[in-house]
This record gives sequence, structure tokens and C-alpha cells, in this order.
Amino acid sequence: MKVEFKKVNKSYDHLKVLRNLDLVIESGEKVVLIGPSGCGKSTTLFCINALEPIQSGEILVGGTSTVNCSRKTLRKMRQKIGIVFQQFNLFPHYTVGENVELALKVVLQLDPEEIHQRARKVLGEVGLSDKIDNYVSQLSGGQQQRVAIARALVMEPEILLLDEITSALDPELTGEVLDVMEKLAKERAITMIFVTHEILFSRKVADRVIFMEDGVIVEQGHPEQVLKNPVEERTRQFLHKVTQHLA
Ligand SMILES: Nc1ncnc2c1ncn2[C@@H]1O[C@H](COP(=O)(O)OP(=O)(O)O)[C@@H](O)[C@H]1O
Ligand SMILES: [Mg+2]
Repeated sequence: MKVEFKKVNKSYDHLKVLRNLDLVIESGEKVVLIGPSGCGKSTTLFCINALEPIQSGEILVGGTSTVNCSRKTLRKMRQKIGIVFQQFNLFPHYTVGENVELALKVVLQLDPEEIHQRARKVLGEVGLSDKIDNYVSQLSGGQQQRVAIARALVMEPEILLLDEITSALDPELTGEVLDVMEKLAKERAITMIFVTHEILFSRKVADRVIFMEDGVIVEQGHPEQVLKNPVEERTRQFLHKVTQHLA
């Protein structure tokens, strides 16, 4: 599914966050969004599934405007959009299987056999087939984040939004999550928008990297260009800080 921002302005009270943002993400494209803390990355993602209202402009998802559309249209559209957060937001006292199956039961009301089949399939894809009956509280952070990815995927989204999904993890656990995401990005034709400062991952996975600052796009392009030879001084400075932090 294609996503389009047309001159979008988004504020929280008097704080302007997105400024006349124009952005087109093609169906199936894998995009990485980078930029300093507070520049509007999460807000951009929240605007896509209309979790946040905008003040002006228009957002189209799969050609349908999310501004002033009916609740029914919005509900249907949101079912096509999966989102994974930094905090996993799982139910710790439910099993892995129950967490993944919940929305299939409650929202889609599928029959039990299909629910189990779909849950088993996605848990296999994230390498957690053997954990289906474990409680989430018994898993490592990396495993929990993979459950959260499976929970999003089981709804068969056409757009997947991933907001700093490895930022809360210990460094030794980020690898397993990024490996799963790299595989999924290569296998799946769905649109994926990552907010991440994992530079190596971005170079392997992204079709395009977008550098944002103060609610505007400063620079965007192929990952090798933006991440290795940025044109803008501000991009260069930002990347310097990010990579210094890693060293
Ligand atoms: N719900 C909110 N209410 C008020 N201000 C917010 C809210 N969410 C985010 N902000 C502010 O909006 C700006 C952009 O936030 P955000 O999109 O989360 O940035 P990023 O994800 O790039 O770090 C920040 O200054 C942040 O403090
Ligand atoms: Mg954020």
C-alpha cells in the first residue's frame, strides 16, 4: 500500500511538529526514517494510521484519505497497518500464542483452527515456534520483541510501521531482532517504514533513507548515498553523532 503526505502540518498545542511535510512512500517500499530525538519521527508514523489528528494537509493510505473519512473506513484501514513499538506492549501473563492470537479472536473473529494455524506460521517466521506455550514474562527482551513482530504480522498488514524496535534492548539482543526484520523485509512485498538508527541494518534493508529535522525532510535517497555521502551538512553532523555513540 502506498502512503502519501501532502503538505501536512501537525502540532501538539503550540508546538509545531510536522511542517508542510510532503512524502510519498510507494507500495512495497522499505524506508528508514532517521533524525534527532524530537524531530517528529514517531509523530509521522502515528499520523499514518491517524492515531494523531493533523491541522492541515492530507494523508492518503492506499489512495484513501484518512482526514475526515468515516469511522468504518478508518477501522478497515487500520487493520491493514501493523505497528511495533520500542516497548513491546505484550500481555506478560498471557502465553506467546495467546498474545499473537488475541486480535484474530477478538477483532477478526476467525475460527479457532485458522487462528492456531496463522499464529504457528508467524511464530515460525520469527524463530519462536518452540515458545508458543511459554509465558511472555519468561522470555528475553529480544524474544519478546519478536513476539510483538509476530503479533503485528499475524494480522497480515499491508503496511508495517516499526518505531525504534531495538532501542530498548541490550546490545546483544538487537542482532536477533534485526536479523528477523531483515529476512522479513526481503521476503515480504508489504510497505515497511522503520525508525531506526541502526546504520548497517539500514544499508542492508532500506530502499530509501530519509533524514528529518524539525519536522521537515532535510535529505533523502539511496542508503549508500545518504548514509555514506550525505549532501547536507546537517545530515553529516547527525550521522557523526550516531556513529560516535556506537563506537
Ligand atoms: N502527545 C504529545 N503531546 C505533546 N507533545 C508531544 C506529544 N508527542 C510528542 N510530542 C512532542 O513532539 C515532538 C516530536 O515528537 P516525536 O514525534 O515523538 O519525535 P521523535 O520520534 O522524532 O523523537 C517532540 O518535541 C515531543 O516532545
Ligand atoms: Mg520517537
